[in-house]
Amino acid sequence: MKYALILLLLPAMAAAADIDAASGLIKNPGWEQVRAHCGGCHSHALVTRQRADRKTWLDIIRWMQETQNLWQFQTQVETQILDYLATNYPPQPNRRRAPIPPSLMPKIAAPVQ
Ligand code: HEC
Repeated sequence: MKYALILLLLPAMAAAADIDAASGLIKNPGWEQVRAHCGGCHSHALVTRQRADRKTWLDIIRWMQETQNLWQFQTQVETQILDYLATNYPPQPNRRRAPIPPSLMPKIAAPVQ
């Protein structure tokens, strides 16, 4: 019974983490544009590591266009790229784990001399 439930859930779990093995990009609408345009100068990991709202993603793109020789996009392509980035890599205010509670920290046996 337990196993039947896991089998039922498997397709949903796979869909939730449908990541392109080569680029690491989440395979949602627009991802091919980002694969084509955003991996030529640096790793796609620089993209997938970043989190930002739509305006900040646009700022990052404009910065690369003004200072790093990133090419101009057709309006439709730029919209697809921004929609993809803002949807799949939105801001995450706290991406660090919570501190370890003091009660779980190792005891200090003796002060270091
Ligand atoms: C023409 C070359 C080029 C292309 C194409 C390019 N970038 Fe960049 N990008 C750069 C350079 C250069 C840097 C700075 C790298 C560094 O600091 O090591 C950078 C940095 C970044 C950063 C890190 C910014 C930061 O503040 O740390 C992100 C995010 C990024 N790019 C996303 C993208 C996305 C999204 C695309 C596609 C729309 C893209 N890049 C395409 C040249 C490019």
